[in-house]
Amino acid sequence: MDSKSFIIQPADRIASFKPYFFASLNQRIATLKSQGIDIIRIDMGSPDLPPADFIIDRLVESARRADMHGYTQMGGTPAFKKAVSEYYQKRFGVQVDPQKETLALLGSKEGLFNLGQVLLNPGDVSLVPDPGYPVYSSTSIIAGAEVYHLPLLAENEYLPDLDAIPEDVARRAKVIWLNYPNNPTGATGSLQFFEKAVNFAHQNGIIIAHDAPYADICFDGYVAPSILQVPGAKDIAVEFNSLSKTYNMAGWRLGMAVGNAQIVSYLNTYKSQMDSSTFAPILDAGAEALLGDQEWLEERNQVYKERRDLVTDALVEVGFEVVPPKAAIYVWAGLPLKRRDSLEFCARLLDDTGVSMTPGIVFGPNGEGYLRISLGTETSRIHEAMRRLVTWVKTRM
Ligand SMILES: Cc1ncc(COP(=O)(O)O)c(C=O)c1O
Repeated sequence: MDSKSFIIQPADRIASFKPYFFASLNQRIATLKSQGIDIIRIDMGSPDLPPADFIIDRLVESARRADMHGYTQMGGTPAFKKAVSEYYQKRFGVQVDPQKETLALLGSKEGLFNLGQVLLNPGDVSLVPDPGYPVYSSTSIIAGAEVYHLPLLAENEYLPDLDAIPEDVARRAKVIWLNYPNNPTGATGSLQFFEKAVNFAHQNGIIIAHDAPYADICFDGYVAPSILQVPGAKDIAVEFNSLSKTYNMAGWRLGMAVGNAQIVSYLNTYKSQMDSSTFAPILDAGAEALLGDQEWLEERNQVYKERRDLVTDALVEVGFEVVPPKAAIYVWAGLPLKRRDSLEFCARLLDDTGVSMTPGIVFGPNGEGYLRISLGTETSRIHEAMRRLVTWVKTRM
C-alpha cells in the first residue's frame, strides 16, 4: 500500500476530540512571537512566583541522596500521605486516614481525569458545571457518560441550582463535579452550600468530586472551607487538592485525592496500571510545603490581591462587568456592550495588542460573553496588558 494514503484512525472514544484549548493557543502565540510581537500572557492559571526557599532547599537536599532515585511507592510515600492528613487536620479540622483516605497524584488534573475513568460507565450521567474546568466533561465523554450541564450563572453567584436538576437526571447521575473557589468565575462556595450538596448527593446516591486547588488563595479575610468539613461527606465525596497553586508548584506536578476510602482505592488501582508514582524528592519537598511555615502564603496572596484590583479597575473603566473575586487567581469579566463572541474578541485582542486572555466559551456554553484573566503573571506585565486593553477598547471597539 502507498504509505502516503495510509490513514491511521484513532480509537472511537477520542476520534472527535479536539486538542486542549491551550495547546492550539500556544501555536498561535509561537507564530506571533516569531514575528517579533511582544506577547503578554494572562490566559493560563500558572503561577509566576516561585515556592518558598525552604521547599526548594528540601527538594535539592533530597535529590542529592543516593537512595531517592528509584521508583517510589505507588500513590505516594507514607510521609507524604501523613503530611496530607496533617494538613487537612490543621487547615480544615478534618481527620483523614493517611493510608486509606489520601493518595498522591501527578497534579490534580491527573486525578480528576482518572476519576471519570474509574467511576463512569457508558450511559451514566455526569453532572458538570458550565462554565467549568474542561477536564470534568472530557473525562466523562471519554468514559462514554452523558454530560448534563449545571449552569453557573451570575444571578446564582455561580453556584449550581441543585433543586433545578430534573428527578430522572438526578436518579441516573453517578457523579457531580464541584469546584470552589471556582475556576473560571472566581466564585466561592460556603459551608452551607456544601451541606446542601452533600444532602443532595446522599438523597440521590451520587458521588461528589470536589476540586479545591484554590482553597488557600483567598483575599479580604475570606477563608475557603473543604467539603470534607460537612459531617457525612466522606461517605460520598472525594476532594482533589493540589500544590500547584497553593505553593506555586504547578510544574512540579503534585496533588492529592482526599476522602472516601473506596474511591481512593479505585483511583490507586487504576493509577498503579498507568503511572509509577512521583519522584521521591518532589514528595519530600511537597510534605515540607504542607507541614512547614504557611505564613509566606499571606504575602503571596497580597500580591494576587493587588493584581486583582489592578485588573478589576481597568476592566470597569472600559465597561466590562466584573465582581472582584474573594479567592482563586482569576478575574471573570462580562464583555462590554453585551458582546457575545468571546473567541473572536480574544483573537482580535491578541492580534492587535499582543495580550492573550482566555475566551469564556472554552469553559462551556454558559461562559460565552465572558473572558477570563489570570493573575499568575508578573504585576508590571499585567499593568502593561491592562494599559494596552484599555487603549484598544477605547479606540478600536
Ligand atoms: C479547577 C482546576 N482544577 C484542577 C487544576 C489542575 O491543577 P494541577 O493538575 O496542576 O493540580 C486546575 C488548573 O488550572 C484548575 O483550575
